[in-house]
Amino acid sequence: MENLNPHVVFLPFPAQGHVKPLLKLAELLSHAGFQVTFINTQYIHRRLLLSIDVDAFQRRFPNFHFLSIPDGLPPHHPRSLEYLLPSIGSATLAALRRLLVSDLLNRTATCIIADGIMPSSAVTAGEEFRIPVLAFRTFSACCTWTNFHLSKLIEEGEVPVQDKDMDKLVTCIPGLENVLRRRDLPSICRVQKAGDPILEFFIKEAKAMLGASALILNTFDELEAPMVSKLTSFFSKIYTIGPLHAISNVRINDDRSHLASTTGILWREDRDCITWLDSQPLESVVFVSFGSIVSFAHDQMLEFCHGLVNSGNPFLWVIRPDSIIVEDGDSGQLLMDLQERTKGKGLIVSWAPQEQVLAHRAVGGFLTHGGWNSIMESTHAGVPMICCPVISDQQVNSRFVSEVWRVGLDMKDRYERSVVEQMVRDLMEAKRDEIMTMMDGVAEQARESVKQGGSSYRNLQILIQDIKSMTT
Ligand code: UDX
Repeated sequence: MENLNPHVVFLPFPAQGHVKPLLKLAELLSHAGFQVTFINTQYIHRRLLLSIDVDAFQRRFPNFHFLSIPDGLPPHHPRSLEYLLPSIGSATLAALRRLLVSDLLNRTATCIIADGIMPSSAVTAGEEFRIPVLAFRTFSACCTWTNFHLSKLIEEGEVPVQDKDMDKLVTCIPGLENVLRRRDLPSICRVQKAGDPILEFFIKEAKAMLGASALILNTFDELEAPMVSKLTSFFSKIYTIGPLHAISNVRINDDRSHLASTTGILWREDRDCITWLDSQPLESVVFVSFGSIVSFAHDQMLEFCHGLVNSGNPFLWVIRPDSIIVEDGDSGQLLMDLQERTKGKGLIVSWAPQEQVLAHRAVGGFLTHGGWNSIMESTHAGVPMICCPVISDQQVNSRFVSEVWRVGLDMKDRYERSVVEQMVRDLMEAKRDEIMTMMDGVAEQARESVKQGGSSYRNLQILIQDIKSMTT
């Protein structure tokens, strides 16, 4: 039978922490000779064009095509999760159906790699058009496993989480009985009532994910083997290929060209901060970044500000234009206030080249929200963390960082200036040796896993072979 080049269709959720890892995998598959169609929402596509030189990208990846589709919201509508989640599924399904009968994709798609946060539209379209769907969950394995138990948590009365029960251990998630307290459950569990629409969205999409033929995770076996093994009860095939940002720099199939990690960024990077880092002492700087979605009230920002300044360590702090929640005030004014207070103590930028920052010799610690990409990047760079989880998977991740992998500290629900100061001092001084011993070991495993012959490297090769075999 004819052996054609596979054509993989990517369907990321429209947010930075999702687009970036899916785009990395798409580049790798394109590099392996596959045809790739990467479908963004129109809103994300416009933003991506700010960071991608499309002509240069196209020269580098001639088999790669971007398509854009509506997300179901009017052009100038806010695009926070509460608005996106109800609209995205039906808009995506309608667009996919149109594309799969159009000349662009008709009869050529080998498989769809769909974001595991919203796989239902791809699974439905996949069934209708007889195209296999692989789910790429951008969360950790531990949070993916937790999310599969949301209905059970509700049945057992452990969710919705009440304030008075925050420190009770969770009992009904196999393998996590002695790890998670109710406060460590995903933020969606802190709702008023079980029928909450966002909680329902996650329950429905987790069920839909079971219709995928395989699961792809941006993690590595040496870190999450016990949780990955649990997930094999749901998926016969799981490909752990992380830390994905680093695997994209290794050679694939003996090809001599290397892939630099370049794309997938939706903000303009301030590269001057690297020059500032060059002037700082070895491992002295705390890098502070809360990812792409999380925002804080000005009062909360002030607590971080005082804590950081009082710790006495220099810091590089990312404050995006939308990081400060403003009711009536002016976020520009609030930012100037923070800049004034931190003058001479640290540097504030609106977006940093995070992978490069974490790999810089001057960076000694990472104050993070505990987003999974950030944890993978920090782990690979060997930088210990303080996690301040806010939404989504971050609560689970931060518990694992501090209690299971022991490569950092968990500041969950205690964001006062004195706690910030104490934790920074602990990370950079008092508890540093103990944490670094663990971090050095985990970082070594992360780096090995993405090298030729390493676990994630091998799993990526298997994924490539398995997709190729779908065309025969
Ligand atoms: C969210 C979730 O919290 C995350 O766990 C999930 O997997 C995806 O959705 P986000 O909040 O954006 O993502 O955090 P994170 O997963 O850490 O991703 C942020 C990405 O933006 C990282 O790859 C990071 O390198 C990049 N970044 C962030 C920059 O390049 N520069 C910055 O200044 C800040």
